Amino acid sequence: MTVASIDHANWLTSRVEHIESILETLLPAPDVVPQRLHEAMRYAVLGGGKRVRAALLFAAGEAVLQGSAPSMAQEKSLNYAAAAVELIHAYSLVHDDLPCMDDDILRRGRPTVHVAFDEATAMLVGDALQPLAFEWLAAMPVAPALIVQAVTVLAKAAGSSGMVGGQAIDCDSVGKDLNLDALQHMHKLKTGALLKGSIVLGGIVAGASSSQRQILSEFGELMGLGFQIQDDILDVTSDSTTLGKTAGKDLADNKPTYVALLGLEGARQRLAQLHEEARLMLRPLGQSGQYLHYLADYIVGRTY
Ligand code: IPE
Ligand code: IPE
Ligand code: MG
Ligand code: MG
Ligand code: MG
Repeated sequence: MTVASIDHANWLTSRVEHIESILETLLPAPDVVPQRLHEAMRYAVLGGGKRVRAALLFAAGEAVLQGSAPSMAQEKSLNYAAAAVELIHAYSLVHDDLPCMDDDILRRGRPTVHVAFDEATAMLVGDALQPLAFEWLAAMPVAPALIVQAVTVLAKAAGSSGMVGGQAIDCDSVGKDLNLDALQHMHKLKTGALLKGSIVLGGIVAGASSSQRQILSEFGELMGLGFQIQDDILDVTSDSTTLGKTAGKDLADNKPTYVALLGLEGARQRLAQLHEEARLMLRPLGQSGQYLHYLADYIVGRTY
């Protein structure tokens, strides 16, 4: 790594601020009818969140562009795509927190959407954010074939073979002893699929070759799983104030997690192994993979 890590930290801060302002601009204004729904959509999406998926998408774009500046059309498309993945993610959190799912009252340091508004509104927020994400992908000023590919990648990542499928397995697994293969499968779907999809999308929009897509996809697979393992670890090692969500919830709810199955040390070892594999995966990208490299370290080392 030749660039000092302070530069990487600054890059991430600037990307986070950037996506926040894109989301702020693109989301329906709170005074547009139906105001309460639009207010709740903005509450769910804005003003919090690490924006890891958007950052990964931008980092994948940088890796493919290899230091050359994106065209204006590519830049606009990367913005739309990054905003779209953050919408799907925000909707997944709103539904994950509902009483019929994890029944959580705290998210990103604030009351969850169904607490701040009401349950029907929280459900409708998710219902509305999801198609909006695809509307934004469709607005990307790229070749129609790339839009079709992007829509397909995000739809698969979000659907019953991806995030929603993982959430279904999660709901069905409470109180059950999953074996490691089954747990890994659940984590790869519920969290891994969207993270991986975000990385692949960044590559598609930036015009990745098939070998670049392959690297991005395999890196995304490893870090997507790693992200949820760290989420499981933080649930037992951190506190609600730091996390901005209820700590200790997995154990209290009898959820199958990496910590429950392998113990804290075992979960940490598995994460370290995935981290190492992910770093190796990036080698062929050289310096152009620097932001993905940085985000892999960030995901593993994060404290909330
Ligand atoms: C939390 O995701 C839910 C999981 C998929 C593990 P994040 O930790 O990315 O949540 P925010 O967006 O930063 O709040
Ligand atoms: C959530 O997993 C995965 C999603 C698809 C939202 P968790 O239920 O562990 O996420 P947190 O801990 O509530 O953020
Ligand atoms: Mg959950
Ligand atoms: Mg949850
Ligand atoms: Mg969790």
